[in-house]
Amino acid sequence: MNKELPRPSVRRLKEHSGEEVLLSGWLAKSRSSGKIAFLQLRDGSGVVQVVASKKEVPEAAWEAIQSLTQESTLHVTGKVNLDDRAPGGVEIHATDVEVVQIAEDYPITPKEHGTAFLMEHRHLWLRSDRQRSALRVRSEVCQGIRDFFHERDFVLIDSPLLTPAACEGTSTLFETDYFGDKAYLSQSGQLYLEPAIAAFGKVYCFGPTFRAEKSKTRRHLMEFWMVEPEVAFLDFDGLQVLAEDFLTYLVTRVLEQCGEELKILERDTARLESVQKPFPRITYTEAIEILKGQGLDAQWGDDFGAEDETVLAEQFDRPVLVHRYPADIKAFYMEPAPEDPKLALGLDVLAPEGYGEIIGGSQRIHDHALLLQRIKEHDLPVEAFQWYLDVRRYGSCPHSGFGMGIERFVAWVCGLKHLRETIPYPRMLNKIYP
Ligand code: 4AD
Ligand code: MG
Repeated sequence: MNKELPRPSVRRLKEHSGEEVLLSGWLAKSRSSGKIAFLQLRDGSGVVQVVASKKEVPEAAWEAIQSLTQESTLHVTGKVNLDDRAPGGVEIHATDVEVVQIAEDYPITPKEHGTAFLMEHRHLWLRSDRQRSALRVRSEVCQGIRDFFHERDFVLIDSPLLTPAACEGTSTLFETDYFGDKAYLSQSGQLYLEPAIAAFGKVYCFGPTFRAEKSKTRRHLMEFWMVEPEVAFLDFDGLQVLAEDFLTYLVTRVLEQCGEELKILERDTARLESVQKPFPRITYTEAIEILKGQGLDAQWGDDFGAEDETVLAEQFDRPVLVHRYPADIKAFYMEPAPEDPKLALGLDVLAPEGYGEIIGGSQRIHDHALLLQRIKEHDLPVEAFQWYLDVRRYGSCPHSGFGMGIERFVAWVCGLKHLRETIPYPRMLNKIYP
């Protein structure tokens, strides 16, 4: 093995046409006749076909090739040939092959496996084409999120994961011991962003959040990643525009950067191309009327279930923004609507094609007395919220923000029915292995 040779990633092989290169990776598949072997080599960036002919490689290399099993690791030296028929447009003509490890019998074979089996082997399942594609899209989405906010002068505020109080209701808290006191894993970074707007104006956080969701659904994880912007002096109308801009930016970015991955996932990209501004906007009350019109038993005051969200979203070809919910079914911090205080200036964005709520946000109460009253009405411990109330005592201002669950967004753009495939190691009800 000649370590002096160029070592391009498979993704960039085209730039090395005609050159001799050194590749290292895993054997995805192989077939061999007596004289010629075809190896599918996966290096993490892509898969390339390696052609090895018995006559052209050293005898030891030919023997090594015969011993290779699925997922064995190897080094391949060879020449890069452009070939339009090959996936990725290139093929490697091997001059040498060296084995690093012969893999034991690999549990995930090309035959069909059940989901339970694949989830037990999530650490290996990551290597398959579809899983790699979904996680690459996720990676691009995460980078897109950072770029979107950075380009718009938002400051990143990392909110804590260990917290003394609840943000999104007490029923989904993960509790832990904090030196004799109770602490909870964060359900949302929002409460910590609000003080930071007085320091930076526009901020966002992006990190893991935790909810002990007691029900088993394809849309809920116990641990998920959320991005949350929060902006000073931003009113409810401005918040809706921000949510629209953000979603169209991300969808466009995935379409531009992840064509290959969406193809492997067999995603109908026409559905994503129609995600253009402006999004339809309907009030909660209008949403209830739509549901009744579709024959669902929806009563004013009910929260929407998964089926309601799907039916609502089906009425539109792009995400729909539902706003002005009954205050009673929304979080304690939401600003009442000026025209009717029974309504909250809260919004949910529902994704098309049955992917449900991807964004939840609101304008926040900025009046100290009203916020204190709401904390008490929700039976929350006032002491634990003194610091949060301070935001309303020293230079309060109207402000708004939202949160988007990364896994919900990725599931939608990838066309994956279940969130478990959108995060490397999903945490689900009663499941924490591997
Ligand atoms: O609507 P939620 O609960 O809003 C908040 O947490 C606000 N504090 C955010 C804010 O205004 N800064 O959650 C926001 C989003 C949902 O729209 C959904 O995309 C996602 O987080 N989400 C989940 N994703 C996966 N699994 C779960 N259990 C989720 N719960 C919420
Ligand atoms: Mg919500």
